Amino acid sequence: MIYEKEYAKRRQSLMQKLKKKSIAVLFSAEQKIRSNDTEYPYRQDSNFYYLSGFTEDNAALVFVRAEEEMKSYLFVAKKVEAKELWSGARLGVEAAKESFDVDDVFAYEDFSEKFKELAAGKSRVYYDFKLDYSKVKLLKKYSQNIVSFENLALGVEKLRLIKSPAEIELIKKALEITKEAHHRAMRKSKKLDYEYQLQAEIEYVFKKNGAYSDAYTSIVACGNAANTLHYINNDKELLENELILIDAGCEYQYYASDITRTIPVNGRFTQAQKELYQLVLDVEKKIISMIRAGVLRSDLQKKSEELLCAGMVKLGILHGNVSELIEAKMHKKYYPHGIGHWMGIDVHDQCPYRDKNDKEIPLRAGMVMTIEPGLYLSTQKKSVPKKYRGIGIRIEDDILVTQNGCENLSSAIAKEIKEIESLSS
Ligand code: GLY
Ligand code: MN
Ligand code: MN
Repeated sequence: MIYEKEYAKRRQSLMQKLKKKSIAVLFSAEQKIRSNDTEYPYRQDSNFYYLSGFTEDNAALVFVRAEEEMKSYLFVAKKVEAKELWSGARLGVEAAKESFDVDDVFAYEDFSEKFKELAAGKSRVYYDFKLDYSKVKLLKKYSQNIVSFENLALGVEKLRLIKSPAEIELIKKALEITKEAHHRAMRKSKKLDYEYQLQAEIEYVFKKNGAYSDAYTSIVACGNAANTLHYINNDKELLENELILIDAGCEYQYYASDITRTIPVNGRFTQAQKELYQLVLDVEKKIISMIRAGVLRSDLQKKSEELLCAGMVKLGILHGNVSELIEAKMHKKYYPHGIGHWMGIDVHDQCPYRDKNDKEIPLRAGMVMTIEPGLYLSTQKKSVPKKYRGIGIRIEDDILVTQNGCENLSSAIAKEIKEIESLSS
């Protein structure tokens, strides 16, 4: 649970970063149409949520900085009985004044007029550069004498990089549910016939435990399907003697988890599967052991490439000298993606990995990142020994960086061969 005090502190930290004589605006997410008159389930914009914890649409946050003086305002939709009958109760302006520690709350319906007033005399407007054009037009129309427009999202995303204890608790809760889901998949796989049935078992656990749902569309990929990195059709048969790559994590109270396990359909790894799996697992564990404040993500990337490349040479998948193979990027045919990414309110927390001087941002205590090495040996790769073709393996955990090391937040999710085999038996 995150309390208003923490949200207020976040708003304060953001306002400190604004230049003098500026105004900053952040809008709630819009409802998205699925088809005709049906909508997708609503989810608040991640940055808006981070700064407010408010989950209604038709809302905005406005920050005004004069010289030293800083003010924050919240805009919320008015309570309208006829609308509430269909879409549920709204908080409304009066109750929002009680709930939020902002300087004032206004009706969202009055946004344009109020914004015009607040923007008067300011020389900078900050907004999220991904904003819909219609809203950008509105902001530009009502802000006069503006010298520059700047991206607000970047500032918020930088704040989001360092997680508070309350945020870490929510990620842990998401991972507890995700653990139950993956362990259920391990127990159920040999009794099921299709990938989507396994997906249903996983997402049943998410929903049953009060998760919003999945933090991203679950990947349940049997056999060669695992070699399509963003495979989400999940409609193929679960075949005896194949592996299933399951990349699935729930979102709990707006916090993601992102976990991949690769398990045998029938609960037993074949010898060839074991060889590849153990290589990926050893690399994953080695990379996790390197994590601590001050380390560069690019060093983790480099090390994972070297280790996987060396392992592939040992197994006869690649031939030659490891450094030369790396130089020629030969390993990228089988390990084409990054070692991991920031995670938090978004499964891929948005902040760039480099600062404004193009210098890489080192890991800092309080960051959460995934570690997810993989090997993808599709049936199309005819130079790969036949026994390995059609196998795709990824193992992914969620790691909290600490000053002197790290904490694997998902260490309770089985990944050793013996553990997986014993859960499935
Ligand atoms: N599930 C998406 C990813 O692993 O990055
Ligand atoms: Mn990931
Ligand atoms: Mn993932």
